[in-house]
Amino acid sequence: MIKTEHSASSRRLFLVSAAGGVTGLSALAASTLSGVAPASAAEPRSLPQPGRFPLKAISSDNGLEATRKAYELLAAGADTLDAAIAGVTLVEDDPNDNTVGLGGLPNENGVVQLDAAVMHGPTHKAGAVAALERIRNPAQVARLVMRQTDHVLLVGAGALEFACANGFQEQDLLTERARKIWLYWKQTHGATDDWLPPADEEIDPEVRQYFKRHTGTIHLAAMNAIGDLSCVTSTSGLAFKLPGRVGDSPILGAGLFVDNQVGSCGSTGRGEANLLNLSSYAGVEQMRQGKPPREAGLAVLRDVVRRSEPRLLDDQGRAKFDLKLYLIAKDGTHAGVSLWGPEKFAVTDAAGTRHEACESLYQREAKA
Ligand code: GLY
Repeated sequence: MIKTEHSASSRRLFLVSAAGGVTGLSALAASTLSGVAPASAAEPRSLPQPGRFPLKAISSDNGLEATRKAYELLAAGADTLDAAIAGVTLVEDDPNDNTVGLGGLPNENGVVQLDAAVMHGPTHKAGAVAALERIRNPAQVARLVMRQTDHVLLVGAGALEFACANGFQEQDLLTERARKIWLYWKQTHGATDDWLPPADEEIDPEVRQYFKRHTGTIHLAAMNAIGDLSCVTSTSGLAFKLPGRVGDSPILGAGLFVDNQVGSCGSTGRGEANLLNLSSYAGVEQMRQGKPPREAGLAVLRDVVRRSEPRLLDDQGRAKFDLKLYLIAKDGTHAGVSLWGPEKFAVTDAAGTRHEACESLYQREAKA
């Protein structure tokens, strides 16, 4: 059974909508009903009618099927957070995605440590776990932190204890492929240790394509027909990170943020840049001040670059790292933005399931 967490205003909206009495309401009345303050009484915001918000799920590039799953659940009336977590669970369970959950790349010691956060717009509640080991679905554990405790964030051994108390099964999350990638990294990354690099013919061809150190993650945001918003971010974090390193994903305002009256924003990419800029909070704040999602996201990325220390910038002042933001505004518009393009993000809405191009500050040179 799906547990729903509609706010009082959402329930009221739904009941009004179900009674069929809202179709002719003005945008002002609509925004008042949904709890969205108009810019001024004389200048109502032109929001869609209650019950007419566009169902949608948007996600990072790796979340195409996740958005499809979330959308199906939204269409069946699921709560936005439950729908978003169900989508993310698909990717956490996928051993072939080495950025999230089972199969995620491990830390420096070969141990998979996961971070995740969930945020529920209608109640403005959230839960998160960080440096969680041996549990493949950290987003589900984060939801329980939100529902069952008076806390927002549990870390490490405490998070594992909490998950086990709730019946989550422990398992080794290091897949054979992730172990080989990690081993290759150990054999090759240092010039002053005792590891020797393998001969070229000894390198597993399946593993070769993953040698670049990276920060992969999934973010997924969902909007339902009454305009409620929720989102989830889940990750194994920076590959080969220092044990105990926590990135942006489980930190509210950095890896994700929702204001149910304004919009949602979440991120993938260099977590440290997000932690230093609270980029997801900033993205929502930019939308609250009137920018559409694309402009809001690009403004945040420009601020991230402006505040970055010189060692992280190239000789043209561009970021040497990447960062992507995924935004939905309360009016149902959305965007994905990235420091470097071309990049894409996943969307499912009434027009179907697809990748869309991110708007980017810089373009990578095409390989010859
Ligand atoms: N954005 C994921 C991380 O840095 O951990």
